[in-house]
Amino acid sequence: MEDDEDIVLSEHARLALQAFLDEKSAALNSCDDNFVEEDWELSQFWYNTETSVTLARSALECVGETGRIACVSCPSIYNQLRQFTSESSENYLFEYDKRFQDKFPDRAIFYDYKNPLSIDDKFKAYFDIVFADPPFLSTECIEKFVETIHFLTHKKIVICTGEVMEESVKELLDLKTCDFVPQHERKLGNEFRCYANFDFDQCIAKIKSTSDVNG
Ligand SMILES: C[S@@+](CC[C@H](N)C(=O)[O-])C[C@H]1O[C@@H](n2cnc3c(N)ncnc32)[C@H](O)[C@@H]1O
Repeated sequence: MEDDEDIVLSEHARLALQAFLDEKSAALNSCDDNFVEEDWELSQFWYNTETSVTLARSALECVGETGRIACVSCPSIYNQLRQFTSESSENYLFEYDKRFQDKFPDRAIFYDYKNPLSIDDKFKAYFDIVFADPPFLSTECIEKFVETIHFLTHKKIVICTGEVMEESVKELLDLKTCDFVPQHERKLGNEFRCYANFDFDQCIAKIKSTSDVNG
């Protein structure tokens, strides 16, 4: 083929190439370059940036700059909180993946839901709001998370999990389904929802009305 000869792609190849480029561009736009890669063996599925920013900023809207926020197994929310608050803020990440202890040595605490109460007594009823996104869509897992959440807070709770867990979260924690639907970087097989014990949609509406969450 001559160098200056046009390459003609079939319609099928053109669409496949466009889909690949779109996916690559979306990934580049949505990933924090320094954020850790998903490890699917740990059931890690990160929110896209719009969702993690929305959840982090809404949490701050709910509890104020000096409120204490716990992110249990949801590192991308904690990662965004770090962008909006000072390092000395009393926000913590409870997470099984030890890569986050390297990334946030002073604020990431090892947490295995199988030992739900192996947590320093300092954190008993310590938080104004707890976010949680359990790794597994099972009753066993959510029940253990509930023990942890009840230990960490007597106040606000937001759980993001698969819609298939709706009955369990409502029964165990008396949470209501939020209108806001969390989105992930990759398409998941299960529909995800947020559940809260207060009007979390109102906090989201406030931050959306004041600015563009991507801005
Ligand atoms: C479905 S992901 C939720 C991540 C969230 N969507 C985000 O973007 O931050 C589940 C989380 O549970 C963590 N995890 C895996 N095994 C765990 C365990 N035994 N105990 C507690 N957390 C665990 C994973 O590392 C991951 O952060």
